[in-house]
Amino acid sequence: MGKFIEIKNVSFSYINDYDDPPTKNTVLKDISLEIDEGEFVAVLGHNGSGKSTLAKLLNAINLPETGEVLIDGMDTRDEKLLYDIRRTVGMVFQNPDNQIVATVVEEDVAFALENIGVEPKEIRRRVDEALNEVGMYEYREHAPHKLSGGQKQRIAIAGVLAMQPRCIVMDEPTAMLDPIGRREIMETIKELNAEGVTIVLITHYMEEAAQAGRVIVMDSGSILMDGGPKEVFSQADKLKSVGLDVPDVTDLTHDLIKAGIDLPDDIISEDECVEKLYRLLKKG
Ligand SMILES: Nc1ncnc2c1ncn2[C@@H]1O[C@H](COP(=O)(O)OP(=O)(O)O)[C@@H](O)[C@H]1O
Ligand SMILES: [Mg+2]
Repeated sequence: MGKFIEIKNVSFSYINDYDDPPTKNTVLKDISLEIDEGEFVAVLGHNGSGKSTLAKLLNAINLPETGEVLIDGMDTRDEKLLYDIRRTVGMVFQNPDNQIVATVVEEDVAFALENIGVEPKEIRRRVDEALNEVGMYEYREHAPHKLSGGQKQRIAIAGVLAMQPRCIVMDEPTAMLDPIGRREIMETIKELNAEGVTIVLITHYMEEAAQAGRVIVMDSGSILMDGGPKEVFSQADKLKSVGLDVPDVTDLTHDLIKAGIDLPDDIISEDECVEKLYRLLKKG
């Protein structure tokens, strides 16, 4: 048995029928990538680098043009496996309003389960469990449209969780949220990952990527970098060359080091920075 997720030499093109003759836009170029069960992988890359296209390969919304994508050994091109693949890999998108279908929270979370004919008692159990996991159980009888963006996104995540996926791919789930909503989603993601759910998080927030176990940087349809967050964010110049940045706190520590303050140069989280500064101040 191979890895949990295997992307082998995958290329993918969109055909633009509006052009005459139709043109082909190759947006993923010979990508190979393996992800183990239980990993928390962040994917970075400027707009148009192919992140969303890659995400949609993971649950057979997109099929590879060449190469193959295997989910727990299941080839995404095999139509017979579509249902099993989509149960294994759930997707959460940017806009929670587009993902919410019902007028009561618990009905929304139950929606997909009802569609696949899960029995009512089991639906009740799974809906309650999923709502608890995202911290929204008390809101089960509320109207989703009255909730905050972060709460709505947590309901959308609960709907995916109710299907008991082993992996959740999130495509910029915090992009439309305020700072509080973003923090709520990051906490939820980290809790789910701690329980063993594999997470693929596409984000344009460096601070979010810094919390992952692994960071992949895409550029023009290729993987430019792949490593631990400290390793990736230590290469500020390379990131800047593809229009990305390092977390603000990394920039700040580099400025402090330049000003003669004795700090490590690989700080990527605020907590770590605070702790190191606190120790320096106590010593001084
Ligand atoms: N449905 C589509 N049809 C045609 N071209 C698309 C479609 N979706 C994305 N593209 C093009 O593919 C490229 C990669 O897009 P995408 O995967 O959405 O990148 P990202 O998520 O990194 O911004 C872009 O040039 C985009 O214009
Ligand atoms: Mg995208």
